Amino acid sequence: MKGIIIICTLLALANAGLRLDNLEQQEGSSCMQNPVFVVSSFDVQPWPPTSNINLAVNMTGTFNRDAYVNQLQVGTNYNRQQWHYQHYNVNENFSKGQTNSFTFSINSGQYGGSYVQQVTLSTQDHQQYQHLTCWQFNYQL
Ligand SMILES: *[C@@H]1O[C@H](CO)[C@@H](O)[C@H](O)[C@H]1NC(C)=O
Ligand SMILES: *[C@@H]1O[C@H](CO)[C@@H](O)[C@H](O)[C@H]1NC(C)=O
Repeated sequence: MKGIIIICTLLALANAGLRLDNLEQQEGSSCMQNPVFVVSSFDVQPWPPTSNINLAVNMTGTFNRDAYVNQLQVGTNYNRQQWHYQHYNVNENFSKGQTNSFTFSINSGQYGGSYVQQVTLSTQDHQQYQHLTCWQFNYQL
């Protein structure tokens, strides 16, 4: 009987651990009001980041209107110095209600300090440039 109780307790703890891991897969927060692309999950692996490794990012969400996505941009800020930007071409039309995952990888950074990574989707039509979403996450190395 005692053995069974201990096993049950261990299983409960194991389940709690799993749930905690899943929660931790949501990194960062929105940095824009009323985005067209509404992020439902944002995953960075491995988490927390260590120095000079590839971070696999998965930004999943849903478009709340038809939208053309020109590019995905990642802005990196190290120790509150200047921003550095990387651009990834998307060049794709999405329709209202469509769910999509944007997956890409970035380097975590080489030096000890604090990092801010800001991911945006943008559209550009008829010379008009507009952000469709903005998501930001922070970490220390
Ligand atoms: C990205 O995340 C979504 C939502 O959790 C998941 O369904 C999808 O399989 C993930 N894509 C990759 C390439 O990991
Ligand atoms: C996106 O849709 C617009 C308007 O319908 C069209 O002109 C354009 O060619 C499409 N772009 C792509 C990459 O499909």
